[in-house]
Amino acid sequence: MKTILAISGSLRASSANTTILEILGTLFPVDVRYAIYEGIGNLPHFNPDIDKDGPLLSVKALRDHIKNAAAVVICTPEYAFGVPGVLKNALDWLVSSGELNEKPVATISASPLYRGGDRAHASLLLTLEALGVQKIAEVTIPAVTTKLNEHGELTHPETKQELATLAQSLVKAIAN
Ligand SMILES: Cc1cc2nc3c(=O)[nH]c(=O)nc-3n(C[C@H](O)[C@H](O)[C@H](O)COP(=O)(O)O)c2cc1C
Repeated sequence: MKTILAISGSLRASSANTTILEILGTLFPVDVRYAIYEGIGNLPHFNPDIDKDGPLLSVKALRDHIKNAAAVVICTPEYAFGVPGVLKNALDWLVSSGELNEKPVATISASPLYRGGDRAHASLLLTLEALGVQKIAEVTIPAVTTKLNEHGELTHPETKQELATLAQSLVKAIAN
């Protein structure tokens, strides 16, 4: 069974971005394994020096999860017009090891603000270009807090449709 690995750029317990990833996970067919990676907050600050004698366990775990995934989906908030440091840090650990090279990747940004974190999204896409990913689909979700109810359900049909289309694109990308 092929795995789609989801990574949230937010460490918050009640993160809207992580909630979006949880909802996305319900939109895949049963023959796709979907897992949200929860380790990016445990990674050390990227430093090539500490990679020389073999990766630390947390770094190796991230690399193994990416390597074993058929595709990856990243959902991120925007902090100060950019990608959260914790997500950029995780991506920096993958530059030289290459697990994301040619990997199908879909990206989502979600923000309570009206631009939907589009600047962080653009910055994320630029970083992913450096990593050589195969870009599959992109969704930007503005005013995300108005589209989720208190039960963490998506109450906005258009956004749900956009997520369903993104999920279908990922399934298609890993079909062969
Ligand atoms: C320090 C800080 C900076 C932020 N900067 C931005 C920003 O530049 N653009 C934006 O759309 N939202 C910004 N936000 C609001 C976040 O989008 C909001 O906190 C969001 O809910 C975080 O995502 P999460 O719910 O997945 O944790 C900022 C929030 C904080 C705490």
